[in-house]
Amino acid sequence: MTNAILHEIAAQVGTPCYIYDQDKITANYRRLAAAFAGCGIYYAVKANSNLSILRLLRELGAGFDVVSIGEMRRAMLAGASADQIVFAGVGKRDDELIEALDAGIGWLNVESAQELRVLSDIAQAKGLRPNVALRINPAVDPHTHQYLATGKGSSKFGINVEPALALVAQRADYPGVNIAGVHAHIGSLLFEPATYAQTMQVLLDFVAECRSFGADLSHVDVGGGFGVAYQPDGAQLAVEDIANAMLPLARADGVNVQIEPGRYLVAEAGQLLTRVLYIKTNGDKHYAVVDAAMNDLIRPSLYGAAHQVLKVAKNQEPRRKSQDGSEKDLALSTKHLALESQDLYEVVGPICESGDFLAHAVTLPDLQRGDLLAIQHAGAYGFAMSSNYNTRPRAAEVMLHGQGWRIIRTRETFESLVAGEIGCL
Ligand code: LLP
Repeated sequence: MTNAILHEIAAQVGTPCYIYDQDKITANYRRLAAAFAGCGIYYAVKANSNLSILRLLRELGAGFDVVSIGEMRRAMLAGASADQIVFAGVGKRDDELIEALDAGIGWLNVESAQELRVLSDIAQAKGLRPNVALRINPAVDPHTHQYLATGKGSSKFGINVEPALALVAQRADYPGVNIAGVHAHIGSLLFEPATYAQTMQVLLDFVAECRSFGADLSHVDVGGGFGVAYQPDGAQLAVEDIANAMLPLARADGVNVQIEPGRYLVAEAGQLLTRVLYIKTNGDKHYAVVDAAMNDLIRPSLYGAAHQVLKVAKNQEPRRKSQDGSEKDLALSTKHLALESQDLYEVVGPICESGDFLAHAVTLPDLQRGDLLAIQHAGAYGFAMSSNYNTRPRAAEVMLHGQGWRIIRTRETFESLVAGEIGCL
């Protein structure tokens, strides 16, 4: 992507603005689909639920993993049929279960004995018998940030293995559901193929145990969580290595495998474009105050996530021939020549909290008021986790396709923010 396009988008759409690259999402999906050939791929909508992204993934062949009825409606608006959707989540409301059943949902991942009872009763009353996978809590340590670990035995997710086995054994008590699968998702941002092999083995042991008392589960869903490198020298995980670590185990057992990746498909394909409002120095720290904030991208504040920040070279900056004959933007090339003009910056937003930062101690060349910065790997859990804190309208979203681009979500307005309050005055 050229800097000229980023300047054009900033000028026409304004900042802050999320920009996604359709070609990258497509390439990520194709690579994943090749590595997991024969498996069901259910995109975790929570990572980025923009309708245009959902539609793109649907056209590429993805199903959807949803955790609310709102996400189910989004997936269907984007062109999915209900049977291509898995409804997961630790706390589904009755009205959500009813709507999902009425729509003809493909699978429900059930997370407690009580939920199984409620779902079975509702479905039976409707004369339905939906496919259910029990989400087990496999007690595998995913070695990730504590907020992103979900499969340690005592976390709120899923059902411990023994009680889950007991539910399958007592399946005759739940005539409104077809318990046909077992599911686990042990966490997010994982980098060890061995962790997936371990999880798969727990799932397959579960299936084997069920077979021993005559219950034949046809599907195992091993969740998502595939890590991506947020820094050029950061930890990496090739999806092929995950597939190689666990698929041979499953093939030997003759079960169908499902996965639910979110971040892997969209993180790297997105960036958050923001403009520098002010530069200042307080004590020993240089600050770049930008127009994006923690309400736009909360990952740095919430998880201490370190996203790479790049300066977008100015359009009008003179270009020079580099040694290999190609043209380079002067602003970028001077990065290496004029070390004295670089500084370590705290990139912070306008929100009234010290926790409002987008990056700590990043090296940026010649930063000035008005410069554009592009925060990398912001396509997953970026816009999706954004809020209106400080009455800040949520950002616009743009999709790049080939050499062109289009708005896929307009910026919120003050009027849309207060719409639900004005009538209550
Ligand atoms: N399946 C289940 C049941 C999940 O809970 C999640 C994510 C996924 C799949 C997709 O995980 P992924 O492939 O995207 O890692 N906000 C955090 C991530 C929270 C993930 C929550 N569950 C972040 O910004 O890092």
